Amino acid sequence: MYEINITKSIKWNIAAHISGLITGARGSGKSFLLLYLVVMLATLPQNEDSLLGSSIIPTQIFAVDLKNSDIARLDKLLPANRVAHTKDEALKVLEHFVDLMEERLTFIQKEKSFGATARSLGMPAYYLIVDEWSATSAIFNDAITKKEKEQKFKWFNLFHRLMMTGRQGLFGVIIATQQATVINSGLSTAIKEEVGFKAHMGNATSESYKLTFGNDLKIPNEYFNVGEGMLWLEGFNYDWAVPFAAPYIDTDNFWDILQKALVNQDDTKYLRLCTK
Ligand SMILES: Nc1ncnc2c1ncn2[C@@H]1O[C@H](COP(=O)(O)OP(=O)(O)OP(=O)(O)O)[C@@H](O)[C@H]1O
Ligand SMILES: [Mg+2]
Repeated sequence: MYEINITKSIKWNIAAHISGLITGARGSGKSFLLLYLVVMLATLPQNEDSLLGSSIIPTQIFAVDLKNSDIARLDKLLPANRVAHTKDEALKVLEHFVDLMEERLTFIQKEKSFGATARSLGMPAYYLIVDEWSATSAIFNDAITKKEKEQKFKWFNLFHRLMMTGRQGLFGVIIATQQATVINSGLSTAIKEEVGFKAHMGNATSESYKLTFGNDLKIPNEYFNVGEGMLWLEGFNYDWAVPFAAPYIDTDNFWDILQKALVNQDDTKYLRLCTK
């Protein structure tokens, strides 16, 4: 129910390992892969052999894109206040997202029987997509005034809280960033424990692979084109990263596909929806 097909043979069960990390050099295909994941998430559960699923549990999408790249365009398709283009907006979106998470967790705890989780109740997932994580962190880290320092504290604190408690409520994060370095400062343990999907797009040095996958994973020697890279999925590949190609995105019709995928986005309708 919560599986998305990264490729025909590789499936990511988001309910088991909710958060994801995509790294890679400029122009390697990170943002395109994010958009592809958005389409699949937003139409869960997926159907075999088709990009758009049946949308019984449509994942609710929120996004931060301070570089105003392709992800920011989702604001045309999503309800108001879901997509952040500026630092202030980013904080608002994150605060709202974490509020919704708390509301859902309280709902499950108060209204449902012992041991119930968002997953066991068949609830739709909520995802916050952050494109250019390093650049976003740098903006928050650059804090001189009192207000900026408060914003910095809030941003990292809320993010940490989300990474640590989101899974029970099916609230996830997908981060895209050129280098995984900033992730290793501040968010390291949370990220390492909760990220179940990692992709490194394009060619890379072994140093950069290590930052993404850690020291233990072995990386086969491969040459990659745009939209291709190395992948690791919790519980799928243990010793070796696997080469994969992100599905090809035809820009002529992809906007239509996104539009169809994002028809079931609603701020309140899905927070308490239980399909089981
Ligand atoms: N899956 C794909 N299918 C088709 N074209 C792709 C795919 N991935 C990437 N491309 C092509 O490569 C270009 C760069 O991809 P993308 O914007 O996703 O890279 P990026 O890693 O996000 O780069 P940046 O660091 O500049 O944000 C796209 O504009 C597109 O032309
Ligand atoms: Mg990008």
